[in-house]
Amino acid sequence: MTAIRYPVTEPHLDDNDRSHLLDAFDSGWISSQGPYLQKFERNFAEFAGTTHALATCNGTTALHLALMALDLKPGQEVIVPTFTYIASANAVHYCGAVPVFVDCSADTWNMDPAAVEAAITERTVGIMPVHLYGMPCDMDAIAQIAQRHRLWIVEDAAEAHGATVNGRRVGSLSTIASFSLFGNKIMTTGEGGVVTTNDPELARRMELLRGQGMDPSRRYWFPIVGYNYRMTNLAAALGVSQLSKAERLIAAHQQVHAWYREALGDVPGIAWQGERPDTTSVQWLTSIRLRAAEHRPALRDELMARLRADGIDTRPFFYPMHSMPPYESSRPFPVADAIASSGINVPSSPRLTREDVFAIAARIRHHVEEIELGDVFGGVSVSVPDATGVPDTERAISSAAA
Ligand SMILES: Cc1ncc(COP(=O)(O)O)c(C=O)c1O
Repeated sequence: MTAIRYPVTEPHLDDNDRSHLLDAFDSGWISSQGPYLQKFERNFAEFAGTTHALATCNGTTALHLALMALDLKPGQEVIVPTFTYIASANAVHYCGAVPVFVDCSADTWNMDPAAVEAAITERTVGIMPVHLYGMPCDMDAIAQIAQRHRLWIVEDAAEAHGATVNGRRVGSLSTIASFSLFGNKIMTTGEGGVVTTNDPELARRMELLRGQGMDPSRRYWFPIVGYNYRMTNLAAALGVSQLSKAERLIAAHQQVHAWYREALGDVPGIAWQGERPDTTSVQWLTSIRLRAAEHRPALRDELMARLRADGIDTRPFFYPMHSMPPYESSRPFPVADAIASSGINVPSSPRLTREDVFAIAARIRHHVEEIELGDVFGGVSVSVPDATGVPDTERAISSAAA
């Protein structure tokens, strides 16, 4: 098998990250207390533009904390896009509540506000917009719906650190927001997450729930059932140094995306994730759709297999939640189905140079044109039965991760 020259993502780790991590190690503060935790939370709140930020052990626990703090109860409904990573839906499920899936907009691939409005019932208590692949949702429209129906909003900003809507950063646009700091994200702490809010009472509740529910003024007294969802000081040390280069990392992702657009913008067979005029994507992962593969994922898989043979890793778009066994639904989600079956994330490491991106893009162009031609003239011979079954080569990333 060809060695992978270009992974989809890779963590950006440098000497400053190493010295922060070693400093935490040498201090002996390796568990969930220590000066880096406070510093990281302070700095992250400043980065997101909120009054509170709380660090957690991953982005899924961050989402779960947010929903518990909002007292999400069994039987209640939360509106979630069907086109997202499974953690968004699972966090709702952990509370015994029901994720009600909605289709996405054809342009941004994010939750369609009209579909949100149509999905509201008397059991709906909240909306969970997900800023997919770094692209912010139509938050103005979603906020108006939430206000009209007195619903809370939990932003799942796992993939969108630093993205903006009307100049304000995601994470500050909702009741509570959640971020992931997994190794493939723009910033990482290895495993890690953050919740942000401007509501001191919600912050207090999340802090209580995160720390096993221990009464802050009475040690070993637990007035509620809590969780151990804490981050370690070791991880927070890495978080502090990663945050200090956040603007550079975001700019590098956006630059990589701009090079792809420059190199492939004229290929009619490729469709791009659209950006609303009021939003700025951080382009966590540059994502393209092979138009010919709508409802024919074999063509998309063929493109992935051919790129892999060139040493270029890609990953398929998420399967929509309504197609997954725990959440299977026969309701139609035509836009999400068409997008999910035809899309791939292409190498998006902030280390890529212009030459790298143009070299990758040349192979993409070549294969897309060949696949389209083959499709028109008698069908494509698919060289790998299902490229999505090939192990993920994202560095340091487990196969279950988003
Ligand atoms: C949209 C979305 N939500 C939630 C998560 C969960 O984050 P984590 O993997 O840190 O638990 C992820 C994944 O990384 C994600 O992509």
